[in-house]
Formats: sequence, structure tokens, C-alpha cells
Amino acid sequence: MPIDTNLKPTSKRSQSIKSYNERTSLPYIRLSFGMSLDGKIATYTGDSKYISGPESRQFVHRLRHNSDAILVGINTILIDHPSLTTRLTNQVGKDAHRIILDSTCRIDPYEPLLLQTSNARTIVVTKLNSHPQKISALRKQGILVLEIECTSSTLPLLEVLSQLYQMGIRSILVEGGSTVHFSFIRDHLFQELYATISPLIIGGEQAKGAVGGQGFQTLNESMKLHIKSIKHVGKDYIIHAIPDIKGE
Ligand SMILES: NC(=O)c1ccc[n+]([C@@H]2O[C@H](COP(=O)([O-])OP(=O)(O)OC[C@H]3O[C@@H](n4cnc5c(N)ncnc54)[C@H](OP(=O)(O)O)[C@@H]3O)[C@@H](O)[C@H]2O)c1
Repeated sequence: MPIDTNLKPTSKRSQSIKSYNERTSLPYIRLSFGMSLDGKIATYTGDSKYISGPESRQFVHRLRHNSDAILVGINTILIDHPSLTTRLTNQVGKDAHRIILDSTCRIDPYEPLLLQTSNARTIVVTKLNSHPQKISALRKQGILVLEIECTSSTLPLLEVLSQLYQMGIRSILVEGGSTVHFSFIRDHLFQELYATISPLIIGGEQAKGAVGGQGFQTLNESMKLHIKSIKHVGKDYIIHAIPDIKGE
């Protein structure tokens, strides 16, 4: 297995993004999560800052720097209150647009991420008319609200991605949480995955695993992956994988 220490995206990768965009009219999706050796992305109390070491967090910031947008689920916002900005130590980072999946518009208009100064926009994706008052307050604040007509309990990802593509977003880094990861994996809507594994054990049945949701019923249905490389970064290992189309 190659140990790849190059943290910079290659021009070959930019080409794959472009050709995927042209072929599908959808943004290119990379999933990224930082987990303990036992596969947890937070403790049972929701504490997740920080499982990964500083060096691998820099790697994730570089992925952000090279993505048009970062996407998270509303629970991650409500629990972690992340800024989702790009903070690189050796250069000025380019913030990616921040996308939040929030079907019933639970976001607090005073959420720090909505009030911070950033060149990138925040996009709240919600169901059509989920909360008209809050939607109009958010818009007045300069937040983009993307309303999706749907009857399902969660937002339909394909439709969401298609509309984000029409807004000009060509690549998205999906950064959690557990429920959102499963939705993208279940719907086969990702092209690359970066799992950062750190040498600690969190334990706990209530602690979120990297991929939650309902999960697959049988191993036969599970998502098969092809491991492209393993990077040793600081004390962590970053596994880079892609869906194994032949193994499906
Ligand atoms: N270590 C890491 O890398 C990392 C990264 C991020 C988060 N985390 C941790 O993950 C935990 C939160 O994870 P979580 O699983 O509870 O929540 P989550 O994935 O952040 O958010 C899930 C919520 O997003 C909304 N949503 C809307 N459309 C969806 C769709 N199509 N698919 C999935 N979700 C959709 C749903 O809420 P509505 O129905 O209300 O819309 C859903 O309950 C936190 O403890 C956080 O610290 C860890």
C-alpha cells in the first residue's frame, strides 16, 4: 500500500472534477470525517473537537480550500457550532461556501457561523415554506436559503445537488455528521472519501459512528470501496478511498 505524503490536489484531480460535472451536471462530492480507532466521530455527549491531530486537520483545511462548498447536517451546526472557514497555517485559505441541510429550518439566526465575516456565502437548504418567518429573516441577514419542494421527511439529495450545481457549485466537501454521511453513501452520491483515523478509543453505544442513519441491511448491500492510498499524517492515518464500482 503506498504511503502518500503529498497533501496537494493534483491537476489530474481537477480534471476528474470537470469531467464528472460535464457528465452528470452535479457537483463532485468528497466525504471527509475524523474518527477514533473504534470508528466514532464524537463522544456520547457530542464532543468532537478535536479527534484528529493538527496535521490532519490542516489536510482537511486544504480540501476545503480546494472545494467550492462544504456541506453539513443541521445537527452538526446545533451541536458543534462550527465556523466552517478555511484556516491554513502556511497561506491564506479560501473559504468555501457553507451548505447546511436543515429541512425544517431549525437553525438559530444567531448561530455564530451566520454572523461571521467571510467572503463565502452560507446556504441553508430547507423544505419549501418550512418556516416562512425565519426564512425571510435569514434572507435579510444575507443568508441564501434554497427551498426544495419535497414530500419526503429528509431533503432529496439528488434534487438538492442538482440545484446547487445550477447555482454554480462544482465541488462539495461533505463534513458530517453521521446521518448525512449515510445519506450520501446510500444514494451513491460521492466520488471520493477521506477517513482520518486517530489513535484513540471513544467507545459508547450512544456515541456517533462515522456513518449512521439506518445503515445497510445486509453486507451484500453495503458500500464497497477501493482504497487508493493511506497517508501517515502526524499521529493519524488518512485513508483515501473511492467507490468500488466492480465490487458493488
Ligand atoms: N469528527 C467529525 O469528523 C465530525 C464531523 C461533523 C460532525 N461530527 C459530529 O456528528 C454529530 C452530528 O451528527 P448527526 O448524525 O447527529 O447529524 P448530522 O448528520 O449533522 O445532521 C443530520 C440532520 O440533517 C438533516 N437532514 C436534512 N436532509 C438530510 C438528508 N438528506 N440526509 C441526512 N440528513 C439530512 C436532518 O435534520 P432535519 O430533519 O431537521 O432536517 C438530519 O437529522 C455531532 O456530534 C458532531 O460533533 C463529527
